[in-house]
Amino acid sequence: MDHFLYKDGALHAEDVPVAEIAAAVGTPFYVYSTATLLRHFKLFDEALEGMDHLVCYAMKAASNQAILKTLGDAGAGMDVVSGGEYRRARAAGVPGERIVFSGVGKTAEEIELALTGGIRQFNVESEPEMEVLNAVALRLGKVAPITIRVNPDVDAKTHAKIATGKSENKFGIPISRAKEVYALAATMKGLQVIGIDVHIGSQLTDLQPYEDAYNKVAELTQELRAEGHTITRLDLGGGLGIPYHQSNEAPPLPSDYGALVKRTLGHLGCEIEIEPGRLIAGNAGLMVSEVIYVKEGEDREFLIIDGAMNDLIRPAMYDAHHDIIPVVEPAPGAEPATYDIVGPVCESGDTFAKHRDMPEMKAGELVAFRSAGAYGAVMSSEYNSRPLIPEVLVHGDQFAVIRRRPTFDEMINRDTIPEWL
Ligand code: LLP
Repeated sequence: MDHFLYKDGALHAEDVPVAEIAAAVGTPFYVYSTATLLRHFKLFDEALEGMDHLVCYAMKAASNQAILKTLGDAGAGMDVVSGGEYRRARAAGVPGERIVFSGVGKTAEEIELALTGGIRQFNVESEPEMEVLNAVALRLGKVAPITIRVNPDVDAKTHAKIATGKSENKFGIPISRAKEVYALAATMKGLQVIGIDVHIGSQLTDLQPYEDAYNKVAELTQELRAEGHTITRLDLGGGLGIPYHQSNEAPPLPSDYGALVKRTLGHLGCEIEIEPGRLIAGNAGLMVSEVIYVKEGEDREFLIIDGAMNDLIRPAMYDAHHDIIPVVEPAPGAEPATYDIVGPVCESGDTFAKHRDMPEMKAGELVAFRSAGAYGAVMSSEYNSRPLIPEVLVHGDQFAVIRRRPTFDEMINRDTIPEWL
């Protein structure tokens, strides 16, 4: 459930008409709902009730500091994957002891930043990383708390570009080699092994791959304990999918997921961490865009809108579906139409939807892309010299611009022309 509903014939974000935001900030823009963000966070938090746990929001999904502060103030931790994300989380007031650091390519600088600034744990992904982490920790006179990310070799049954738990993927250490790598970690004085980390992929719509992976983690926990390692924390990653087709999809609920975690791992007495990104932010955000032209093609009609692939790359990159709805509620019996919905960027890939049935639209009218809160704004670029689009946060009947649209001068003046020119 989200808080983007039609009221009095107009799409609202909570209690604010979306058209009112468009009039104030111009299009295209992203808008997020505070109530939806918090609702999704609480669903996970409650699903793990009864187990010692921390929900670490995977901030790569949507990293505006206003979103981070909203979730951080509600008690969320953060999963970060770069020094930039670490800085952003800290700037939004999230304490280091609630931040976990994931990713296959942490640099020595990033490790030092987190070790000096405060960190809950590093999720280590390789032996070379372990060696660098150990060396940096020893140099700083610190001990780095770590989990080791294991790759359980399960098929997450999701889009190939966002599956991470198969042996062919670059992530983690093969679970078959885990014991050897934990033994190596135990010899390093700059490291303190506290647990196991696993993350098998994103937009999972079936719980079976989780069940398979978590059973393997449970087994590994017992084996590592038998070899004398202290395993007190399990980081279970993120990845639970969301309904992108509002009408006909029902992915598993956080409560079903929570029950699975308890069933597979509850007996181990470990503290549990999870790293959901999409399920918290995805359906908490819309991208809103205006129709520029309705163009007659030879065998189809194009809805040319002012948002483009640089603003929301998911359809171009993963063939992802987003529901696209008019901001003015269609009257019953409104004239139906079928459109290819495209942006102004000079590539055929700049297509959001093909043969999409919608009510008839006119130039100047607004459309909203649903489920655009996760991996939307964060993956945007200035391709075609299109400025990054603003982000807006709604809270009840109030809204605030949480990242403004840069001016063309700001964008252009970031370039430097060398003196020889
Ligand atoms: N933890 C780790 C280690 C991850 O790599 C990811 C996502 C997450 C947690 C959060 O996964 P989520 O709960 O959001 O599924 N850009 C793609 C998604 C990439 C996901 C990358 N890793 C998309 O737009 O679908």
